[in-house]
Amino acid sequence: MKITAVLPIVLALGFSVCVIAQSEADYSGWMKDIAKTKQKVTKGVASKSADVPDDAEHLAGLFQMVRTFWEGRNASDAVEIAKKAEDASKELAEAAKAGDEAKEQASLQTIGGACGQCHMAHREGSQGNFSIK
Ligand code: HEC
Repeated sequence: MKITAVLPIVLALGFSVCVIAQSEADYSGWMKDIAKTKQKVTKGVASKSADVPDDAEHLAGLFQMVRTFWEGRNASDAVEIAKKAEDASKELAEAAKAGDEAKEQASLQTIGGACGQCHMAHREGSQGNFSIK
């Protein structure tokens, strides 16, 4: 009798722990994609590549997932930084479509600044072994 009452609770707890662990595992993948895409888009702006709008939209989507992750943790500072990077990525896409180079550079700078701000506040460890704090 007792076991049948406890079992669902244990299962439910185990499941929620898994969901949290899963999004932490995804997080590192998002960051790697963000770093790669940021690099590509920076080069793309310099060489006036036609890929910039798509890449910038991809970046915005990644920052959106990052923002949702931090919303789940109630870390309002990180949410704000991620939102800023997300908005700047969308601006970059628009600026690239319009061929507005000054605005492209400004958006890139905002995106670049967001990396450092969030890492200072919420990243621990060192290369190859980063974690979330
Ligand atoms: C809102 C917070 C936030 C923003 C914005 C952010 N990062 Fe991160 N980043 C983190 C945290 C937390 C970690 C550590 C956790 C991890 O590595 O999974 C991290 C880890 C990383 C890693 C290491 C990944 C790994 O696991 O090896 C790279 C590379 C990285 N970020 C690049 C960037 C770049 C480039 C930008 C900006 C274009 C950026 N990040 C913006 C929070 C952020």
